[in-house]
Amino acid sequence: MNGRERALELRAEIEKHDHQYYVLDAPLISDDEYDRLFRELQALEQAHPELLTADSPTQRVGGKVLDGFASVRHVVPMLSIRTETDTTASGAFAFDARVRRELKLSEDDPPVEYAAELKFDGLAINLRYEDGVLVSAATRGDGETGEEVTANVRTVGQIPLRLRTEEPPVVIEVRGEIYMKRDDFLRFNARAEAAGKKMLVNPRNGAAGSIRQLDSHIAASRPLSFYAYGLGEVKGWKVPVTHSAVLDALSNFALPVCAERAVLHGPQPLADFHRRIGERRASLPFDIDGVVYKVNALALQTQLGFVSREPRWAVAHKYPAEETNTEVLGIDIQVGRTGALTPVARLAPIFVGGVTVTNATLHNEDEIRRKDIRVGDTVVVRRAGDVIPEVVRVLPEKRPIMAAEFVMPGFCPICGSHVVRSENETVARCSGGLFCPAQRKQALIHFASRRAMDIEGLGDKLVEQLVDGGVVRTPADLYKMGLLALVSLERMADKSASNLLAAIEKSKQTTLARFIYALGIRNVGETTARDLARHFGSLDRILAADEDALMQVDDVGPVVAQCLREFCAEPHNLEVVEQLRAAGVVWAENPVEKTTQPVEDSVLAGKVFVLTGTLPSMTRDEARAMIDAAGGRANATVSKKTDYLLAGAEAGSKLEKALKLGVAVIDEAQFRLMLGQAQEE
Ligand code: IVH
Repeated sequence: MNGRERALELRAEIEKHDHQYYVLDAPLISDDEYDRLFRELQALEQAHPELLTADSPTQRVGGKVLDGFASVRHVVPMLSIRTETDTTASGAFAFDARVRRELKLSEDDPPVEYAAELKFDGLAINLRYEDGVLVSAATRGDGETGEEVTANVRTVGQIPLRLRTEEPPVVIEVRGEIYMKRDDFLRFNARAEAAGKKMLVNPRNGAAGSIRQLDSHIAASRPLSFYAYGLGEVKGWKVPVTHSAVLDALSNFALPVCAERAVLHGPQPLADFHRRIGERRASLPFDIDGVVYKVNALALQTQLGFVSREPRWAVAHKYPAEETNTEVLGIDIQVGRTGALTPVARLAPIFVGGVTVTNATLHNEDEIRRKDIRVGDTVVVRRAGDVIPEVVRVLPEKRPIMAAEFVMPGFCPICGSHVVRSENETVARCSGGLFCPAQRKQALIHFASRRAMDIEGLGDKLVEQLVDGGVVRTPADLYKMGLLALVSLERMADKSASNLLAAIEKSKQTTLARFIYALGIRNVGETTARDLARHFGSLDRILAADEDALMQVDDVGPVVAQCLREFCAEPHNLEVVEQLRAAGVVWAENPVEKTTQPVEDSVLAGKVFVLTGTLPSMTRDEARAMIDAAGGRANATVSKKTDYLLAGAEAGSKLEKALKLGVAVIDEAQFRLMLGQAQEE
């Protein structure tokens, strides 16, 4: 046997064992034996580089580091699925009714055949096989264009580098989800923690983050899995007539296809599938956030077509947020920037909704009273998606006999000042103001934050050190700090100290809106700060304005006006503002008049936008700046006053609310069109 033949033989052998091990979870040989085969192939390829092929299993281990990802245009766009948020059985009935209506079926027609499967929670990927060999892998991107991540995808052991068939299609694009199993996630994190390395936030980020790394060794080091769920471009292959048969065929090609799937007829079996899977959801080896129903006949899928990137023939039927029980170990009090005391439940660590939860905010005293949460209680904790964990309710039957009712302390746990709670407020506050180190720290953290003065490198830990060490009391002190004071801090290297000083220096050039926002005046968020800056044009005019003048500004009502006046009435605050100006903090006064005038009557002028989701080619901040420059406004929440919701991928509750209120929803392309019009005018 010559080298070429031996290489072929070894590859076939290794491929078989990869499939047995990664996909079937049934290895036929020991790790040692496998390693021996693998090393023999590696040695052979090293000695004869002409024998190396793209589909060789030796190519899975990760290679050179890329400068960036190339773009790939999807010949067949990668669609998303409409989400049915009604988590009850009626979600399935609503979908079936829509399908029947679209297909113009009457009551006498037989039930529609559906393929039901799981909705995996990872990263969508397009695998392109030419003549049976994996030649490229790309992310979904905006559906039209994705990123080429072949080197990373090759490292996923479950993905065959060559299809198992004698007669491969000329071209077949397989679509599916790269995900991380819960066990793999936990094991990876346990090792990372032991090694003092960075841990993954949750399995989904673990999967998505690994594939978006420029260094494929990183993906190779992470335990990733894959399930195929559909097709993209196909050439030279007789496509089966149903979706379920397509998945069977993919499975025969050695692609992993999830066994939790079914072919069902009519809505009731779909609802039963949803309920059955729901009951077993917590014990599945990976996270899902719903099930997917697809019209099974591909001909009917074509007939149904799609609306705005979502096929009419598929729906994702969600589950309610995951809930688990755990114990309240204690109730801590956190003191915020404005002195608000927030009770936080310290919980026995529990894995729910994809992350380990160790604490949950209890919001305020009334909330604790209402739910009657006590230390020692067993509580139901809920966490959905990226939402912060919530204590849903107490299980009273599990309450220890001596559990005492919660009482808000009368004195600030940090500085000992009196705690006050005004009659019409739910929040109790420390009256210590900036005397209270907790408030001082929070005020500084806010001041330095990205959207305020944007001082890179001044994080929570450092602020803590600076305040505790007495180096910094007010934001103005930051600008007086020298290298010496900094390097005397624990764990502060010369290099980081000078970087920080450079960042502080850089932050001196700012905008009026950022500066106002950075001051951390109660109830003055980013939007209000921007409105104030635009309306008054100069800080002195804002500081001098009385409540009536302040209320001329959009969105400024009596409460905000009063907060502004209270801020100005405190000599200490004005002193800090003066010190900051004296230290050299500057912004262009009255910068708005120049830009707002010409666009006054543009399409965007005066229009209220809300942004949500990931936009394909710009960040939300960039979009916000464009709206601003064109004379529009970007608000944080959707209301009846919203003119447009600019929505990107993974838009959530804002989109729902916009649809409910009948607010126009636009995508980035439409937004760019509007901007183009705005510029022409
Ligand atoms: S089919 C026709 N099937 O959900 C729609 N997608 O918004 C094409 N997903 O990005 C997708 N499990 O990554 C399909 N069984 C499944 C899925 C699934 C998860 C993801 C997919 C896509 C998103 C849809």
